[in-house]
Amino acid sequence: MYNVRRITDDIWWCGANDHRLHLFENIHPIPQGVSYNCYVLLDEHTVLFDTVDWSACRQMIENIQHVLNGRPLEYLVINHLEPDHAACIEEILLLWPDVKLISTEKGFMLARQFGFTVDNQECITVKEGDTYSFGKHTVTFIEAPMVHWPEPMVTLDLKDGVLFSADAFGSFIANDGKMFADEVNYERDYLDEARRYLTNIVGKYGPHVQLLLKKAAGVLDKIKIIAPLHGLVWRKDLMWFIDKYDHWSRYVPEEKGVLIVYASMYGNTESAAQALASRICEKGMSNIKVCDVSNTHVSYLIADAFKYSHIVLASVTYNLNIYPVMFDFLDEMRMLNLQNRTIAIVENGSWACKSGDLMQKYIEDNMKDMTILNERLSLASSLKPEKEGELDALAQSIVDSMKDVSTK
Ligand code: FEO
Repeated sequence: MYNVRRITDDIWWCGANDHRLHLFENIHPIPQGVSYNCYVLLDEHTVLFDTVDWSACRQMIENIQHVLNGRPLEYLVINHLEPDHAACIEEILLLWPDVKLISTEKGFMLARQFGFTVDNQECITVKEGDTYSFGKHTVTFIEAPMVHWPEPMVTLDLKDGVLFSADAFGSFIANDGKMFADEVNYERDYLDEARRYLTNIVGKYGPHVQLLLKKAAGVLDKIKIIAPLHGLVWRKDLMWFIDKYDHWSRYVPEEKGVLIVYASMYGNTESAAQALASRICEKGMSNIKVCDVSNTHVSYLIADAFKYSHIVLASVTYNLNIYPVMFDFLDEMRMLNLQNRTIAIVENGSWACKSGDLMQKYIEDNMKDMTILNERLSLASSLKPEKEGELDALAQSIVDSMKDVSTK
């Protein structure tokens, strides 16, 4: 059965939802699923913007055929070649062999790399600022390199103001009937997963997202709707969501607050992390989240590391090193280019306590614009009353340093 939603008079969502996939990109858990969005324009000519993941191909085909209602598909605009959006190109070519393809030079190069038989089609190579008319609707193309692969472009429909934004402004969570962000309580129910999507998938490429935002700012008056390849479509409060993207891509914390991530083998480092959380709350900062690094998927930790201004790393020493799962978290932060955070360190070791110095050196050697507080809580196996002073000094230092944080 077809399952479509109308975006504007002439544009339809023809995508699909996926609750079967457990790991997005075979790495990130998606307990609430994901959507693969593609869109059909009915004008003098018929146009499909992107396809979907292979697993959703049949649903997409049914949707497109329903919307076309017997008309042939004449154009396929390929904004992004990653297989969660491009895997069904070949099926489109088989069903509509005369379809003309529109993409960037790099897009066509990647299509050939993935083995699609694009060279049997008429391929229209476009670049930044080019326009193309399908009848009443003229679109313009804006290149978006490294958001999040080298080849993406976004396409702006100048008639209805729809920005087909590729991965930009996407999110985890299947649409499940909803289509527009204003149909849900987005801040309460979706924002965390939008942040987790952006920071883990595109977090490394903040400057490239910034470049795209600057280009979008130049045509902002023309953008009425943002239609991403994953998640809900935006037709209201666009600037609220754009501001979130601006924060994430500039590595500016959204909130003053503390993410405490602990690595604890027998509960003693956990106990110290909890004692620190209480001290910080007593001093007036209650925006605190405490996570066990061993049972929190790193994609959630990364999302919270992008959200909060302060990160406490509390780790046991393990084989004279940083606890391996904590090291993975640090390494993910490095890979995703996280910067501009205040870091506090809690270390534990029953002998030869090394984790604090090692975490500090790793951050200093590998990350930019991180402030590591001088105060540190060092434990020998467990937190004892004689460490009260150190505990209090660290909590005070965290709270005091909040005043230097900007969330603008
Ligand atoms: Fe959802 Fe970069 O693909």
